[in-house]
Amino acid sequence: MKFFVDTAETAEISELASTGLLDGVTTNPSLIAKSGRKFLEVIAEICDLVPGPVSAEVAATDFSQMMREAKILRAIAPNVCIKVPLTPDGLRACHALAQDGAAVNVTLCFSAAQALLAAKAGATFVSPFIGRLDDIGQDGMALIADIVTIYRNYPAIKTEVLAASIRHPIHLIEAAKLGAHVATIPPSVIRQLYHHPLTDKGLATFVADWAKTGQTIA
Ligand code: E4P
Repeated sequence: MKFFVDTAETAEISELASTGLLDGVTTNPSLIAKSGRKFLEVIAEICDLVPGPVSAEVAATDFSQMMREAKILRAIAPNVCIKVPLTPDGLRACHALAQDGAAVNVTLCFSAAQALLAAKAGATFVSPFIGRLDDIGQDGMALIADIVTIYRNYPAIKTEVLAASIRHPIHLIEAAKLGAHVATIPPSVIRQLYHHPLTDKGLATFVADWAKTGQTIA
């Protein structure tokens, strides 16, 4: 499973990239607003930090303006992945961009029917939002299961399922068990993945016992 980080904070991205475990980055207009930085500048900086796909979302909602914005975003770096909303105009832009060789992430996917449309439009990634479905009392993980099952029925579909709106490690583990190709994860949740109390306890014991030996390795 590929791990993307869901943030526009370059300091966090730089730190996570140094672990060697990061495969890409996703941003959205809300994350850009939160960063307080200029969109094009921050995307350029992120593209320098991470060689994998960096999702940069168009701001427009109509096809022609989306295409104009996508042209500017694609010129930033070869690893920019154009993010478009799952709307008729967004899917039209996805199709045109994919035909032109661009990587496209179709975002705001909340149904299996929408995911089928994204695949037909040639999306590189489709982003079903798990947490936001859970928030309204629906089953976000059931959507991941449906999309993975449907895509597997059609080997010609190359679109990868990018599990998004992940709120905690269980979301990630369940999505991985279902076979989602990618997860985009907030930095705080990535940090949670490392921890287990028995690891901390076990390490404290090993450190204490090693000290008793009076030895050094290097
Ligand atoms: C995905 O690309 C989205 O930016 C993100 O996962 C949305 O998550 P949220 O529902 O926590 O805002």
